[in-house]
Amino acid sequence: MRAMVYRGPYRVRVEEKDIPPIEHPNDAIIRVQMGAICGSDLHLYHGLVPDTRVGTTFGHEFIGVVHEVGSSVQNLKVGDRVMVPFNIFCGSCWFCARGLYGNCHNTNPNATAVGAIYGYSHTTGGYDGGQAAFVRVPVADVGPTLIPEWMSDEDAVMLTDALPTGYFGAQLGDIVQGDVVVVFGAGPVGLYAAKSAWLMGAGRVIVVDHIEDRLEKARTFAHAETLNFTTVKDIAVEMKKTTDFLGADVCIDAVGAEADGGFMQHVTTKLKLQGGSPIALNWAIDSVRKGGTISVVGVYGPVFSAVKFGDAMQKGLTLRMNQTPVKRQWPRLFEHVKSGVLKPSEIITHRIPLEHIAEGYHLFSSKLDGCIKPVVIPSAS
Ligand SMILES: NC(=O)c1ccc[n+]([C@@H]2O[C@H](COP(=O)([O-])OP(=O)(O)OC[C@H]3O[C@@H](n4cnc5c(N)ncnc54)[C@H](O)[C@@H]3O)[C@@H](O)[C@H]2O)c1
Ligand SMILES: [Zn+2]
Ligand SMILES: [Zn+2]
Repeated sequence: MRAMVYRGPYRVRVEEKDIPPIEHPNDAIIRVQMGAICGSDLHLYHGLVPDTRVGTTFGHEFIGVVHEVGSSVQNLKVGDRVMVPFNIFCGSCWFCARGLYGNCHNTNPNATAVGAIYGYSHTTGGYDGGQAAFVRVPVADVGPTLIPEWMSDEDAVMLTDALPTGYFGAQLGDIVQGDVVVVFGAGPVGLYAAKSAWLMGAGRVIVVDHIEDRLEKARTFAHAETLNFTTVKDIAVEMKKTTDFLGADVCIDAVGAEADGGFMQHVTTKLKLQGGSPIALNWAIDSVRKGGTISVVGVYGPVFSAVKFGDAMQKGLTLRMNQTPVKRQWPRLFEHVKSGVLKPSEIITHRIPLEHIAEGYHLFSSKLDGCIKPVVIPSAS
């Protein structure tokens, strides 16, 4: 089969690999119909995630058709059209029992902090991902779900990570009626977080980024106010000015480890002296009001980052964060997509044949050609 293969930082290509076999009775093999490239894949692509091994296949956003099932699989059959959440989780450990599917204790033998994720280095279990013609799906009775007939492929693939993560980002903000919500990052996750904030009662939503076509999308897709951080001297001062000098009620970090806007933070992250540049997170800490809430869905690596923790403590902030428990978000999100309140596929800008995925990574990484969200189509190759 054809599969995306990592060859080192900034080097990915498509190679021939064996179709993955069933390794456990509860495995399924899925023929991928559509995948996507996530902002999280860029951290891998840039060589920033520990134990990202040459030869592995990325891709944790994918949908497809069941090609083969192991002997104990009961909930899926060959030919089913399924969507697969990015978390690989057992569904029955202490953490899964409490809905913390991103923190499953059984599926990732390589770390205790994080559960397993498809195609996301050996620190999250070393499973190959879905930027390929076929992918092995472990614990197949637990994660995958049949795609409802009324749901399009493009909406379904957005529901495997990006949309649930934006929605989760807004949920973690504990938004109450009328809140001023500031979203840092106008990538797919930030756009969906901004859109979701309205559904939870926000009174104002302000999106911060420095890429104009993404800020334009924040205005048209998420109906948000926008701020280009390169046009102001001090983000926190701007936020105070626009909130009666109180600060925002809720700030959402949808940027993560590779934030721009601060030279030293950026360089120390590239040199791996810290686990991620917390520029957006520190702006969030400065911009939120005393007693406010910060939600972090942007990804940071181990071990530490220079976060303004003292300021967060002195301001009495609540900080909430995690990898998204995708399947927990599905029932409500299915309703919103079915009713038309959310149209996830509206942010897709590029449809890339698997064979051209290297170009897709380059476009998305460098934010060229107005690229906001690329999907990957194996059969178009
Ligand atoms: N928690 C989860 O489960 C989960 C799931 C998916 C993605 N993520 C993470 O969410 C983050 C965003 O993902 P994405 O797909 O939207 O990525 P993306 O790279 O497309 O978007 C990030 C955006 O942040 C902007 N940005 C950079 N520095 C900034 C700053 N200082 N202030 C404001 N904006 C800034 C960039 O210009 C870009 O538009 C990534 O860190 C990704 O790893 C987390
Ligand atoms: Zn992701
Ligand atoms: Zn578990």
